[in-house]
Amino acid sequence: MNILVVNSSAQGEASVSTGLARAFVEQIAGARVVIRDVGSEPIPHLVAGTLSGVRGVADSAEEYRAQALSDGLIAELQDADVIVIGAPMYNFGIASTLKAWFDHVLRPRVTFRYTEAGPEGLLKGKRAVVIESRGGVYSSGPAVSQDGQEQHLRSMLGFMGIEQVTFVRVEGLGMGPEAAAQAIEAARQELRDLAGRGLALAA
Ligand SMILES: Cc1cc2nc3c(=O)[nH]c(=O)nc-3n(C[C@H](O)[C@H](O)[C@H](O)COP(=O)(O)O)c2cc1C
Repeated sequence: MNILVVNSSAQGEASVSTGLARAFVEQIAGARVVIRDVGSEPIPHLVAGTLSGVRGVADSAEEYRAQALSDGLIAELQDADVIVIGAPMYNFGIASTLKAWFDHVLRPRVTFRYTEAGPEGLLKGKRAVVIESRGGVYSSGPAVSQDGQEQHLRSMLGFMGIEQVTFVRVEGLGMGPEAAAQAIEAARQELRDLAGRGLALAA
């Protein structure tokens, strides 16, 4: 089994999501793991000089460089059976570094295409596990509508054909050390169960 881990925390070794992602993949015997940490080594934003290359049409040296980066990131994704994403919530959404990664792998005619019947994802048969770390609580209570993270991630993965996604929420990390410790332990257990089931993902 090939696993691609995409971490996006800007907190380095102190990151909850990165730590949980690491512990998770260590429990999967025999897996070949590739780690892409965009929180430490960011992918550039799409800008006027690079956009065309990333979308598949390169002309200038800058566009060719950008396309080569995008090609490499897409190849990592195509090679993976399972994608594990460490996704801290930053300002109600995903980290901009993670968005930049998605901007580089969502390429028309390569990871998705438009057909007469509508869009079609071209990455079939893959699964994803997304670890969402948050200071507050968004799965229930008054802040549910402020969760700009989970649906966005589900849309981007689904658009590429990755529809089997398990979200593991680590919430309330900013609500005192006891609440944080409990949330981390619950997520650790959830991930342990998932690894124990051989990644037979819960719906
Ligand atoms: C720049 C920044 C923005 C944040 N914005 C939010 C937010 O909008 N909502 C929230 O619940 N937590 C927010 N947090 C808290 C993080 O989600 C929380 O610290 C989480 O542990 C980060 O994940 P990590 O430990 O994997 O880095 C923010 C943290 C930072 C550093």
